[in-house]
Amino acid sequence: MNIGIIGIGYWGPNLVRNFYNNPKCKKLFVSDLREGRLEYIKNLFPGISVTTDPNQLLEDKNIDAIVIATPVNTHKNIALQALANNKHVFIEKPLTDNYDDANEIVDFSKKQKKIVAVGHIFQFSPSVTAIKNFVREKELGELFHFSSQRINLGPPHASIDVVWDLAPHDLSILLYLFDEYPDRINAYGESRWWNGVTDNAHIFLGFPSKKSAHIHVSWLSSNKTRRILLFNKDGNFEYDETKSDEQKVIFYDKGIDNRIDQKSSEKTKLQYGVGEVKKLLLPKGEPLALEVDSFLNSITDEVEPINNGEIGKEVVRILEIASQTIKEKAYV
Ligand SMILES: NC(=O)c1ccc[n+]([C@@H]2O[C@H](COP(=O)([O-])OP(=O)(O)OC[C@H]3O[C@@H](n4cnc5c(N)ncnc54)[C@H](O)[C@@H]3O)[C@@H](O)[C@H]2O)c1
Repeated sequence: MNIGIIGIGYWGPNLVRNFYNNPKCKKLFVSDLREGRLEYIKNLFPGISVTTDPNQLLEDKNIDAIVIATPVNTHKNIALQALANNKHVFIEKPLTDNYDDANEIVDFSKKQKKIVAVGHIFQFSPSVTAIKNFVREKELGELFHFSSQRINLGPPHASIDVVWDLAPHDLSILLYLFDEYPDRINAYGESRWWNGVTDNAHIFLGFPSKKSAHIHVSWLSSNKTRRILLFNKDGNFEYDETKSDEQKVIFYDKGIDNRIDQKSSEKTKLQYGVGEVKKLLLPKGEPLALEVDSFLNSITDEVEPINNGEIGKEVVRILEIASQTIKEKAYV
């Protein structure tokens, strides 16, 4: 397959490296409005074609798919143009900066019968895959609560708020693990340093099956934290992205065992299970390499990727409601 990548800023070079190294990608074409970025990438990956005119890629009949790594407010126009030219699209997260545009892209992709994949890299993280597989293989009771903390000091730039900057990652993990979309969305947030831009926020979600979730994102924390807790009736998962692979995902096989007391009249006597503490073995692979490979496979096999347009749309819907709720309630 021949691939065109548009946008070689901070994140784009990582995508170039992974498409370049994937044997299914035959030829790579790259575009950025800035000459300097093209010189930089050409030096790193000799043999790729570069241009400052993205239309050259969008209109090139030899290109099968377009990868979009430009700022979020440009995703819609580039994606619609690529789809109109019968190309599959891989769009960096978040899919768009509003739900209407996300709908338009996904509807048009269906009409054009083309794949839309969204850059939800954590859906390909070995840690998330390990949790998903562990729940399935061990036939544990369903996960019923998700609580995450993605907090660090300061934004990359304050053109978007902390909800749009950090929460896409937690939301894509949450929706993938729960395999369900929320019917209740609430949020609380504030602006402490970034004058009118939310820099500390909590999102609360409820699901039709009574599952629940809480996501805390912040630019106010001196300590970088990437932590997710997952509860199910048999125990808890603790997933800490900052730890070494051996320590990243731990399952505490310890729940409240009320089976023993169910027939007893002494209702207050709860028994606590004392199972093992299990460090999950993570599958191998770099998340971005796995994500790129999945996109290329979904095109050749004509199947929807796990990071498809529908989950991309749902992430945008939740981000929009959460961000607006914070503004409407005049928290910022
Ligand atoms: N998956 C991840 O973990 C991850 C991490 C960082 C960023 N991202 C996403 O990647 C995207 C890009 O983010 P970034 O931080 O690299 O942004 P950036 O501002 O550093 O880079 C964007 C690049 O796009 C170029 N550009 C803008 N409009 C263009 C156009 N019409 N044609 C060609 N080039 C154009 C700019 O010149 C710039 O070089 C965003 O959607 C962002 O959310 C994803």
